[in-house]
Amino acid sequence: MSLDLKNSVVTGGGTGIGKAIAQELLAMGHRVVLTGRRPDVLEKAAREIGADWVAFDAAEPDEITAALPNLPERIDVLVHSAGGNPDLGAQPARTLTEIKESWTANFTANVLTTVLVTEALRDRLADNGRLIGIGSIAARRGASGYGAAKAAIETWTSQMAGELGERGITVNTIAPGLIEETEFFGPGLPTERRAVLIAETANKRAGRPEDVAALAGFLASERAGHLTGQIFPLNGGASR
Ligand SMILES: NC(=O)c1ccc[n+]([C@@H]2O[C@H](COP(=O)([O-])OP(=O)(O)OC[C@H]3O[C@@H](n4cnc5c(N)ncnc54)[C@H](OP(=O)(O)O)[C@@H]3O)[C@@H](O)[C@H]2O)c1
Repeated sequence: MSLDLKNSVVTGGGTGIGKAIAQELLAMGHRVVLTGRRPDVLEKAAREIGADWVAFDAAEPDEITAALPNLPERIDVLVHSAGGNPDLGAQPARTLTEIKESWTANFTANVLTTVLVTEALRDRLADNGRLIGIGSIAARRGASGYGAAKAAIETWTSQMAGELGERGITVNTIAPGLIEETEFFGPGLPTERRAVLIAETANKRAGRPEDVAALAGFLASERAGHLTGQIFPLNGGASR
């Protein structure tokens, strides 16, 4: 094992965008730990791509704390792909109680996962390390609680870049548009909605997890050391 082998942790790394980013980091020679809530999904993905895995709920302080002994002592790259839109496939929230539940669920899934795991691992981040958040095109489109939660990731990016910059740690967020071949849309995006989203792009196609992984790989690289505190839209020109 090389002495300068880099350690990466990818939350939400068992599926979709996180798994593709994990593959990119593995191709860069990193040791990669996938995290998520479902051990069976993580075990299968880790075996397939050659990573390690640790199961915990990234929004639950006690579960994160319990997982710490199984996570690397020094972390060079931390990617926050855990998240999603709990409203998809659910009945629209109408009562105040339902609206509270929806916004809380979106905040928990996207913001708490990112903030809590970062704080738990802050002291393990290596100098010149990399933090990568996953936002969304929805952050700037008024997409209810989900869009607001992803907007919070943007301001978290700014805050953390300022806090960690003197150590050479960069903090950036990739904000994807439609990315297929993930579990994000559950059983699938309705055909008409898919057509609308693809028509919005300049290149007339949906994004793929590898599109996000390619940018994440660059942001994780040594060459990207002067890029920090930024949001990188990745949407085929759907938002220009
Ligand atoms: N696909 C798109 O079109 C799109 C567009 C813009 C942004 N995004 C964002 O991209 C990120 C990745 O999504 P994806 O498209 O790759 O969908 P995905 O396949 O559903 O990936 C989300 C991953 O996060 C994990 N996760 C969710 N909540 C978690 C929690 N509380 N603790 C630990 N792990 C958790 C899930 O695993 P478990 O369920 O096993 O925990 C899953 O592996 C998300 O933040 C999503 O909002 C996606």
